[in-house]
Amino acid sequence: MIGVIDSGIGGISVLREIYSHLPDHSLHYIGDTAWCPYGSKSYEEIISRTRVLTEYLLEQGADLIVLACNSATIAAIEYLRAHYPIPFIGMEPGVKPAAKLTKSNAIGVLATEASLSGEKFLRLVSTHAQNLRVITQPCPRFVELVEAGTLDGPEIDFAIEQYIDPLIEAGVDVLILGCSHYPFLKNALRKRLPQEIQFIDTGEAIARRVEELKPFKDQNASLVIQTTGPQEKFQQLLNLLAPELSSTCSTLHLS
Ligand code: DGL
Repeated sequence: MIGVIDSGIGGISVLREIYSHLPDHSLHYIGDTAWCPYGSKSYEEIISRTRVLTEYLLEQGADLIVLACNSATIAAIEYLRAHYPIPFIGMEPGVKPAAKLTKSNAIGVLATEASLSGEKFLRLVSTHAQNLRVITQPCPRFVELVEAGTLDGPEIDFAIEQYIDPLIEAGVDVLILGCSHYPFLKNALRKRLPQEIQFIDTGEAIARRVEELKPFKDQNASLVIQTTGPQEKFQQLLNLLAPELSSTCSTLHLS
């Protein structure tokens, strides 16, 4: 079984890609809504929480875990790989593809505070974008709005104006959606920003990587979706954001 972890509903943007590539695999998603957001937490807190979630998924039979969360990847993947005997696939802001696409030599990275403050992120930039202008922008309000199921309207417009307009004015022509919650705002961003702005979202690349590591189907494939927060609200979000995963979610109680 493939375990998939995020701080809340955001990782569903990755799960839907995995599901569309691998519909015959057993998938078990945990949205850690009770602990959302991860983006403002310390690395120690994120490591200790992802350990709890990993141990639960191992008990359920996971033989591969996807951290469908940039913040968890940057804070915890090295620790998890060193301490648990299964492979972990993580996601990081797509600096490499963005560097290939930009014509203005200026890229914008939208991600959480936790992702942007990591050593790992600095390494990504120095490896792939050393000669480019890289402008970073944490967008915590986007996470709150997506968790509330608000994908359009005045609050979204206001947040885009605050976060993104300064980047466009600075000449950015590629925007990295470096948090798994942000792809749910792609339509609103598309509508509001100049047409030449391109977006980078790494969800599909993660699904391809999963496919490489898990080429064989599971007998009796199942889809389990759990939240550590209120079930009803999460189910509503799921129906809104990914109706194709029309599975019933349940609440997971973890200490
Ligand atoms: N979705 C997460 C990420 O990709 C984090 C959002 C949050 O919990 O702050 O970074």
